[in-house]
Amino acid sequence: MIAEKLINETKQSEVINITSNNILLKKVYLESYGCAMNFSDSEIVASILKKEGFSTTNNIKDTDLILINTCSIRDKAEQTVKTRLRDLRKLKKNKPKLIIGVLGCMAERLKSSLLEEEKLVDLVVGPDAYRDIPKLIQDVEGGQKSVNVLLSREETYADIMPVRIASNGVSAFISIMRGCDNMCSFCVVPFTRGRERSRNPLTIIAETKDLFNKGYKEVTLLGQNVDSYKWKLSEENRIKNEKINNINFAQLLALVAEVSPELRVRFSTSHPKDMTDEVFHTMAKYDNICKYIHLPIQSGSDKMLKDMNRGYTNKWYLNRIDAINKILPNCSISTDIITGFCNETDEDHKATLDLMSKVKFDFAYMFYYSERPGTYAERKLSDNVVLEIKKKRLSEVIVLQHSHSLEKNKKTLGKTYKVLIEKQSKKSDKKLCGRNSQNAMIVFDKGKNKIGDYVDVIIEDCTTATLIGRVIKVSKN
Ligand code: SAH
Ligand code: SF4
Ligand code: F3S
Repeated sequence: MIAEKLINETKQSEVINITSNNILLKKVYLESYGCAMNFSDSEIVASILKKEGFSTTNNIKDTDLILINTCSIRDKAEQTVKTRLRDLRKLKKNKPKLIIGVLGCMAERLKSSLLEEEKLVDLVVGPDAYRDIPKLIQDVEGGQKSVNVLLSREETYADIMPVRIASNGVSAFISIMRGCDNMCSFCVVPFTRGRERSRNPLTIIAETKDLFNKGYKEVTLLGQNVDSYKWKLSEENRIKNEKINNINFAQLLALVAEVSPELRVRFSTSHPKDMTDEVFHTMAKYDNICKYIHLPIQSGSDKMLKDMNRGYTNKWYLNRIDAINKILPNCSISTDIITGFCNETDEDHKATLDLMSKVKFDFAYMFYYSERPGTYAERKLSDNVVLEIKKKRLSEVIVLQHSHSLEKNKKTLGKTYKVLIEKQSKKSDKKLCGRNSQNAMIVFDKGKNKIGDYVDVIIEDCTTATLIGRVIKVSKN
């Protein structure tokens, strides 16, 4: 009921669809690193530039503007970008008018020092300043290097309809919030992305409907901490006769799911401290909300969790896992793990392995700790686990996780899943692949099926990373 009303109101809400009739004169090449949020932001940037007469290109050798959207999460991520910038020197030499800009988290972290460090860079723009890019380009064209790294408490780019450059036409990202207030002691994101702010739900629903009308079959709601999403409805949008004036993440999820039962809904990332049963119940209620939760644990040791400032204990985390297993018995769970954080002992490391064995995650992203300048850990704690030990612990975590992933995958043999076909398999043009609701990647023979179709696939074989199946039925939707 609430959903219906809100969706109807959305029709009248002001969502500016930035498609211009300008003749597209100039070309921009966008390259993104880091998390999904960066890929989503690049689509916002493409939209802002389209209005200024830029079309996007995949040909880096034939473009007027190169924008590199960067990540600072670990030192390695920054090194990758620096190497890439060095590669671009030749292009700039051959084409002196070429403008090269750095966007995203590295731009925010390094600010104007990036211009001194990387001489070929003309433009440095932080994640909240993308609306200023056209003006900054003009400054560069006028012979001036330009920088805008101002962070905002309000900017959500809510009115901008992204140009879907990173998309396969089947699934798309929708950013629902920006920034992060959690201040995990190891993490650079609060410094590069600023304060947490949620986006107007009416614009989120309008974007979802727009995607669905264009033939998209799946949306992923993005935020650093989606479960702390909150929005206070203004007087005029308040739902009459309903007591609800504030929308939380569970309610937003329901609103998006109600756009159409044929549209799959995913979300990422959830923080364990804010994950409520209400979200799980909403997931259970709607078939089209995918039964997959990414819930980063980081460490199995309470001492580490405390020093990481994660705001939960292992007991709390396991309680959330129990709730998921109870309310959503078919839900898969993945996590993030860091090895070798400050003062981590063998015992702490063993606690992580024990926790992993208790939960048996379907999948995990695993990293060794990389100290980030300016974070609490860098200022107050000692990065005292030697690299060799960090790496050794990481490889133990990886080996254990692979065994769990394989064990989980073997349990799917003989089962049938509804799969949304996303792309051609990398290994063979005679095969297609797509994910089931639980986010497992499934590969199968192409037959007459095509990207964007739903098919029922029976699983016949598996590896640690992939399920291999056979299409037994083309689904109706
Ligand atoms: N907002 C998400 C995580 C975003 S960063 C969350 O809190 O769940 C993605 C992952 O990168 C983190 O979960 C963490 O495991 C890892 N990470 C972040 N900072 C890191 C660092 N300094 N060194 C190593 N890994 C890090
Ligand atoms: Fe970083 Fe923690 Fe925020 Fe995630 S929740 S982005 S790890 S500070
Ligand atoms: Fe990287 Fe910034 Fe995302 S640091 S992980 S691109 S928020």
